[in-house]
Amino acid sequence: MYDNSSIQNLLASHQSGWSLDQRFYTDPNVYACELERILLRNWFMAGHVSQIPRSGDFIVSRMDQESAIIVRTSDGSIKAFANVCRHRGSLICLENQGSVRSLRCPYHGWTYDLDGDLIASRSMPAEWDKSEYSLKSVSIEIMGGLIFICFCDDPPSFSAAKRDLSEPMTIFGFDNMKIAAKKTYPMAANWKLAVENYQECYHCASAHPDYAKMHTLMLDTNKRDRLQKKMLSRFGACGLKDIELDFIDTHAPAGEQGYGYSRTALFEGYKTGSRNGEPLAPLLGQLTGWDGGASDWSFGPFTYILSYSDHQVAYVFTPVDAMNCQCEVYWMVRSDAEEGRDYIIDDLIWLWDVTTQADEKIIVNNWAGVKSRYYSPGPFSGMEDMESRYIDWIVRELVSTSSETEYQ
Ligand code: FES
Ligand SMILES: [Fe+2]
Repeated sequence: MYDNSSIQNLLASHQSGWSLDQRFYTDPNVYACELERILLRNWFMAGHVSQIPRSGDFIVSRMDQESAIIVRTSDGSIKAFANVCRHRGSLICLENQGSVRSLRCPYHGWTYDLDGDLIASRSMPAEWDKSEYSLKSVSIEIMGGLIFICFCDDPPSFSAAKRDLSEPMTIFGFDNMKIAAKKTYPMAANWKLAVENYQECYHCASAHPDYAKMHTLMLDTNKRDRLQKKMLSRFGACGLKDIELDFIDTHAPAGEQGYGYSRTALFEGYKTGSRNGEPLAPLLGQLTGWDGGASDWSFGPFTYILSYSDHQVAYVFTPVDAMNCQCEVYWMVRSDAEEGRDYIIDDLIWLWDVTTQADEKIIVNNWAGVKSRYYSPGPFSGMEDMESRYIDWIVRELVSTSSETEYQ
């Protein structure tokens, strides 16, 4: 719980087009309010179906104090349970990933089957009804092989996202991918600074020299338009379609989770995000050629994907607590691509590994300065428009009452 009255003046004082007041990052009341209204109320990507191919395979995913077990059940379906024992609350799965025949609590040994039903509990009364003590379910959705979870029972609907994104997801073959690599980047900073940094490319020219050689987001619009037109002229021959869906969470229909899709030209000579612009892996999905572009996707407020023609990179930002967050990065290739033959891991992850490491430094430095007594909100540049809209959305979500949490 949090003291709502103490943050209402703060919310009212936010000026659109300016960065947030310090208290948005440091006040425990704001964080508690964010948990209730944003962090535990929206979907985030918890993994990919290829990580749990067999019955009993599981992954664990977290948001703040909440932890979910995502498990492949005996009938091949995928379920998500709170990682909290129904006896006295111990965490059940202590590893992030594994394979089990049943879910056994390490504390006193209560054991649950893969459907979350309690099947063994030593020394409990004979007439005792085990069926009352199944693991609690966590909301789960699977879209194109991506596993999303949400730690509330009435999450926003994903149906508009599924409907509108299905065509581009089919083109890129989302249902036919696997995780080639995954890395977690812990960041000692409030979670918003990490997401805000992802939303803007004002910093890219100075902070990401490798990225800036191939990506054009930091160009002025006229220069980018020329490259954009060239890329569009190649779409037909490459199996792509000109699809653009508003790339920000704030424009989802009421009650729906936000989503977005757009494709942006790389610099001439770059087929993909590699050192020399040459392919890193076989073409994805239905693609038949190299258009020289990269697609940005958003799935709710914490999950972003960047699709080159031959691989894609997913970024998931989640808080660990008010002062720490993490960015989980997944590199995906076609499911039939073979490591060593079709792709080399080091080459595949190179760009976004160096870029995310550089981002971590920027974000931690930003956090150090934001905590200073000399920090005050500063004006956004034209290249930080998405970030500006994102934080305006955060403020609106915090202002709205729980019965008015519709997206605008
Ligand atoms: S807390 Fe899990 S068996 Fe006791
Ligand atoms: Fe960056």
